[in-house]
Amino acid sequence: MRAVIFGASGLLGRSVVCAFNDMAVTGTCFSRTAGGLVTVDATSADDIERLLSRDQPDVVVNCVGERRPEVWAETPAQARGRNVEAARLIAEGACRYGVRLLHISSDYVFDGKAAPYRPDSLPNPLNAYGRWKLLAEHAVRAACPDAAILRLPVLYGSAQFAAETNLTKIARQVSAGVPMEMDDVCVRYPTHADEAAEVCRRLAGALLRGQRQGAVAHWGAEQGLTKYQMAQLIARRFSLSAGHIRAGEADAASGDRPVDCRLDCHDLPAALGPLRRWLFHTEFPPVVEPWLLPARPVSS
Ligand SMILES: NC(=O)c1ccc[n+]([C@@H]2O[C@H](COP(=O)([O-])OP(=O)(O)OC[C@H]3O[C@@H](n4cnc5c(N)ncnc54)[C@H](OP(=O)(O)O)[C@@H]3O)[C@@H](O)[C@H]2O)c1
Repeated sequence: MRAVIFGASGLLGRSVVCAFNDMAVTGTCFSRTAGGLVTVDATSADDIERLLSRDQPDVVVNCVGERRPEVWAETPAQARGRNVEAARLIAEGACRYGVRLLHISSDYVFDGKAAPYRPDSLPNPLNAYGRWKLLAEHAVRAACPDAAILRLPVLYGSAQFAAETNLTKIARQVSAGVPMEMDDVCVRYPTHADEAAEVCRRLAGALLRGQRQGAVAHWGAEQGLTKYQMAQLIARRFSLSAGHIRAGEADAASGDRPVDCRLDCHDLPAALGPLRRWLFHTEFPPVVEPWLLPARPVSS
C-alpha cells in the first residue's frame, strides 16, 4: 500500500509518517524542507496533481493547516489558503485519482458551550480558525464525499522549536520566571500527536477496507486541563517556582476561544476496536524537558 501524507513536516504529520510504517510513504513539506520530504504547495492544484500522478497512492492524509493565531491575525488570506483551499484541492485530487482520503480537522469547529460534542453535533465556530476548519470540512465533503474527517483537540508531542506546541510554550513561560497571567477558564484536552497518529493509521486502514467512508470521527484525551493547570503540573514535576504565573481568563475573556470543546470519542473504539490512550501525566515530562530554560542564578 502507498500513502501520501500532506504536511509531513508538521507536528502531527511527523507522527503520522512514523505510524504508517507498514506502507510506502511519501511525506510533503512546504517551508521545512528536509529529510526526504517532497516540497509541495498544497494551495497549488498543479503541485498536488504532479505528486498524485507520480505516486498513485492508495490513501492520502491531509495534515496541512495553519493553527498559529499570530498568522491568522497577520496574514489571514495565507492562513485561510492553508486551511481551506489546500483542503479543497487535496480532496479534489484524491477524488480524481480514486484515492481514500483522511482529512484532519479541529475541535474549534464547536463553540465550547455544550460539551461533550458528538460527531453529528452542530458546529458553531467562534473564531476565524474554527470557521476555516469548518469551511474546509464542507469543501472536503463536497469534493470527496467518501473522505473521513477526524477532529482533534490541541496536540502536544516531540517539538522542533519551543513555540511549536502550546505545551512547550507554557513550559518556556514557567521556566522563564517572568510574571504573567495564564488562562484558567478554557479547558483543553491535550492529546499526544503519536496517539492521534495511531488513530489516523487505524482510520486509514478502515477506509482501505471500505469502512468508515464519509464518516466524521472524534478523538482526544479524556483529561481536561487549563493552561494554568498545565503550568502548575510542569512546575511541580520539575521543581520550578510557578509563583510568577497568575490564574486569569485571558483566552476566555476574548470571547473567541471556546471554553470547553470536549469531544465525545465513543464511536471510534466501537468501529475500530480498542485504541490505546496516552496519559498526559506520564507523557508530558519528556516533551517539555528539552524546552525548559536553565535555572537562573540566585542573586546574593
Ligand atoms: N496542533 C494542534 O494543536 C492541532 C489541534 C487540532 C487540529 N489540528 C490540525 O491538525 C493538522 C496538522 O496540524 P499540526 O499541528 O501538525 O500543524 P503544523 O505543525 O503547523 O504543520 C502544518 C503543516 O502544513 C504544512 N503547510 C503549511 N502551508 C502549506 C502549503 N501552502 N502547502 C503545503 N503544506 C503546507 C507545513 O509545512 P512546513 O512546516 O514545511 O511549512 C506543515 O507540514 C491541521 O489541520 C491542524 O489544523 C492541530
